[in-house]
Amino acid sequence: MMPATTPQWHRVAEHPDGLPWQPNGMAVVQAGERSVCIARHRDGYRAFAHRCPHAGALLSEGWIDALGNVVCPLHRYRFDTLRGRNTSGEGYHLKTYELRVDADGVFVRA
Ligand code: FES
Repeated sequence: MMPATTPQWHRVAEHPDGLPWQPNGMAVVQAGERSVCIARHRDGYRAFAHRCPHAGALLSEGWIDALGNVVCPLHRYRFDTLRGRNTSGEGYHLKTYELRVDADGVFVRA
C-alpha cells in the first residue's frame, strides 16, 4: 500500500461538462481527501487548493481575472493557477494539482 501522502489520480467527473460549474467559471470537487477547485482556462482546465494559503478563504467564491489568475474573495491576493505563484506579490504559494481529461473522464492527482 502506498503512503497516504503519495498523490493519486482521482476521477472527479465523467466529462468536463459534468463538473459542478459555478457562474464564475469554477467548480469544486472532492479528490480523495482534498477539496479541489477547478477553473476553466484558455489552454484547458486547472486544479488548485480550495482554500487560500493566506487565511483560508474559499477561492471558489472569488473569480478568475483576465490573465487567468484566481483572485481570492477576502483580500484579493492573486495566484497563477498553473504553478501557484502569488502574482500579486505577497509571498504565499497556492497548492496546485495535475489535472487530465481523457476518454475515461476528468482526473485530478491529489
Ligand atoms: S484569505 Fe485569501 S487573500 Fe487573504
